[in-house]
Amino acid sequence: MPIGREKSVILDQQDKKVREQLSKIKHKIMVMSGKGGVGKSTIAVNIAVGLSLQDFMVGLLDVDLHGPSVPKMLGARDLKLTRRPDGRLGAIKYSPNLKFLSIEPLLPSEDSAIIWRGPIKISAIKQFIGDIDWGELDYLIIDAPPGTGDEPLTVAKTIPDAYALIVTTPQEVSLIDVKKSIRFCQKVKMRILGLVENMSGFICPHCGKPLDLFKRGGGQKLAEEMGIRFLGKIPVDPRIVDTGDRGKPIVGAYPESVTAQAFEDLIRNIVSATEEMVREVLEEKFMRIACPVSTPQKFEPNIEKMELFALYDIENSKILVKDVVKKPDDQDLIDFLKEQVATHIVLHNPPKELADKLSANQIRVLIAETPEANPDNLIQEYLQSKVQ
Ligand SMILES: Nc1ncnc2c1ncn2[C@@H]1O[C@H](COP(=O)(O)OP(=O)(O)O)[C@@H](O)[C@H]1O
Ligand SMILES: [Mg+2]
Repeated sequence: MPIGREKSVILDQQDKKVREQLSKIKHKIMVMSGKGGVGKSTIAVNIAVGLSLQDFMVGLLDVDLHGPSVPKMLGARDLKLTRRPDGRLGAIKYSPNLKFLSIEPLLPSEDSAIIWRGPIKISAIKQFIGDIDWGELDYLIIDAPPGTGDEPLTVAKTIPDAYALIVTTPQEVSLIDVKKSIRFCQKVKMRILGLVENMSGFICPHCGKPLDLFKRGGGQKLAEEMGIRFLGKIPVDPRIVDTGDRGKPIVGAYPESVTAQAFEDLIRNIVSATEEMVREVLEEKFMRIACPVSTPQKFEPNIEKMELFALYDIENSKILVKDVVKKPDDQDLIDFLKEQVATHIVLHNPPKELADKLSANQIRVLIAETPEANPDNLIQEYLQSKVQ
């Protein structure tokens, strides 16, 4: 089987490159929504530019393979990939603090229509991260196409520690879309950073003041109901369309405007929410506990035999989701746990060497006293012991 073997070596190397690259990026945020035209790209671009203006190192990755809009919105259609001294390709430099990448500059002509099938999309997105050098970044903002299809799924798989930023508009229908996005995040185990309400209120094109023509504020209520953060609201502003078309994002073009200020509030909330997400892990307010199992209801105490893992997402001592995942035979345990973004693992009698290696990788070890146990009970007992 020389060919099959070759292929898997290449895939391993690709995954390794992706992991290396990701380890140099502090926070990854995927901007998503249930449907198109709600302003995801607008929000992604303005957040990225706004963060870069605050001296953060930022990357903006456009994974909308069918309708990339980032180059146009940045006014950067003529910019090309950079070649680094070591021969690697680097993301496109927009400003000293902001790099971006989109499929558009890689295509022969701007309007080439392409039909991407699932597997090609997946490898394209992996290459965007693994083959292209992004350097050290504080934030990587990912602009996803609408819905819950191949692209957001690939992002969730390729960048397992990305957070989701859900965009909605103040219409009744978007409630269903937000719920759909939340369900998607739970399914792929992507933590949700929060919700943004776009096109909320209206900025008068004549006087530049906010007018309450439409119903607004639904986003905040919805976020409360769904138990997620509300990060901010951006008004309808004709200058957003204009600046988007001219390639001059409003946060840079009209920094004094009400809309740019709204973006500033949003960005401030995003910065503090990302820090809070990290703190939640350190303080065990958020945990993803991996528990080796032989069947979903039976703990697997034998370290040699571990291949199925029940993964529990826990927030404030409450189990949000449980999922059972199989570790690929040839994958190292630590690599697997990191890929699953597990914060804890339950083990019975772990050898010291393994326990040390896990804690060196910021994975805490919980000890199961007895080999015979029900994983759900183990987790419940642990949570109760923490409360007391
Ligand atoms: N707050 C806003 N006010 C006015 N126009 C907006 C606003 N947000 C987005 N738009 C416009 O709506 C259109 C769709 O926005 P876009 O960001 O491309 O949405 P998506 O990426 O979700 O498909 C664009 O023409 C954009 O300029
Ligand atoms: Mg878009």
